[in-house]
Amino acid sequence: MAASKKLATAAVLVSLLALLVGPSAGLLGSGPGCSVFVGWPVLSILNSLICGLLGGNYTPPVRRNPPTGKELSFGYYNNPNNTASYCPGAEAAVTGAVKKAIDQQGRGVGAGLIRLFFHDAFVRGCDASVLLKNTVAAGDNTEREGPPNKDSLRGFDVIDAAKEATKAACGGRNVVSCADILAFAARDASDILSGGRIKFAMPAGRFDGRESFASETNQLPGPDSTLENLKEMFDAQGLSEADMVTLSGAHSIGRARCLFFTNRLSDMNSGYAGQLRAACKSPDTRVDQDPFSPDFDPDNLDNQYYKNIDKFVLFNSDAVLFSPGTTKEQVKANADNATKWEADFAAAMVRMGNIGVKTTQVAGLTEIREVCWRVNNA
Ligand code: HEM
Ligand SMILES: *[C@@H]1O[C@H](CO)[C@@H](O)[C@H](O)[C@H]1NC(C)=O
Ligand SMILES: *[C@@H]1O[C@H](CO)[C@@H](O)[C@H](O)[C@H]1NC(C)=O
Repeated sequence: MAASKKLATAAVLVSLLALLVGPSAGLLGSGPGCSVFVGWPVLSILNSLICGLLGGNYTPPVRRNPPTGKELSFGYYNNPNNTASYCPGAEAAVTGAVKKAIDQQGRGVGAGLIRLFFHDAFVRGCDASVLLKNTVAAGDNTEREGPPNKDSLRGFDVIDAAKEATKAACGGRNVVSCADILAFAARDASDILSGGRIKFAMPAGRFDGRESFASETNQLPGPDSTLENLKEMFDAQGLSEADMVTLSGAHSIGRARCLFFTNRLSDMNSGYAGQLRAACKSPDTRVDQDPFSPDFDPDNLDNQYYKNIDKFVLFNSDAVLFSPGTTKEQVKANADNATKWEADFAAAMVRMGNIGVKTTQVAGLTEIREVCWRVNNA
């Protein structure tokens, strides 16, 4: 009996490995040490198997100071004093590209843009590192290949189109950084998906970086994160617990794959869990994150997320915000007052946009990319 149990365990492990090694194999050779992905349930099994042998650990990044907001400026491209970057049509060009993409592809791509901005910010700061397809140091193993990003991020094509649109608007000059384009695009998507309720100015003046490593995407929190994990990871970026709760409201839009939540259906409202169980034909099936959006539009960026917590949200990282404490108080306040959350969200997006910005041009380190998915002179 003991033997058959062992055998069953082994079979489970082997099938897990078969499932996991394929898509994540790139990780093995990716960068210094061993990346441990905290809060990514499926991936963490793989990592405990691999990193256990290699002695890998999750090391939080050196804690950043809270963004001062002083490095960037509002209307950066409209300021004639910035002679090199002066291009008053820049922001409108990005807005036009975002609107066009949403018209053509649907509102879900707006969700993709907001998430792209978050995933850029948390890894090497807002320097468009998430957009690179290859670099000298990483080869093809850039952030896009990192487990949280691979087969998941969308909206890259919109950024590429926006880049071209800014060049056209700036008399053919390449003056608007991809990092700024991404920040403007996330701002515009917030405006459009909220029906104009979340409208804010986004400061600019970021330069693009030249490095990007898949292994560093372990700075991104995962769906199985505990409240402690979440606080630690936001704190590492210089963002507060309150910012973390506020920004999580972005889960009122977009889609998520079943593999990230089928382990916790029993924690959800039973009717909702039943619907999800039926919808989840495979681990890669995508479902709407917000089952209760008005007008049956799952891409309304609104405070419905806080009303859905904790029985109608998908991830553990969503539900834990309702464990007793200050995050729970904030969830209730956001559920009760849409205006409050909308204002908080706008301010938190600006703070996130200040993370790790590079504001000077340094040869070999920063630049204004010609094409957003590759470094110049590659
Ligand atoms: C608090 C920690 C967070 C965790 C653990 C988390 C995790 C996730 C996961 C696992 C998905 C589904 C990905 C997939 O199935 O491929 C997702 C989707 C999404 N997340 Fe988060 N996220 C967090 C915070 C944020 C923040 C701060 C934002 C933006 C402000 C954000 C915006 C989104 C959006 C818009 C989607 C849907 C994307 C789409 O439909 O393309 N998330 N998130
Ligand atoms: C441009 O520079 C002048 C002189 O320093 C200053 O007075 C003005 O406020 C600046 N304009 C902007 C938009 O920053
Ligand atoms: C909702 O929040 C806004 C902005 O913080 C505030 O001005 C307003 O008084 C709040 N409304 C209620 C009903 O508490």
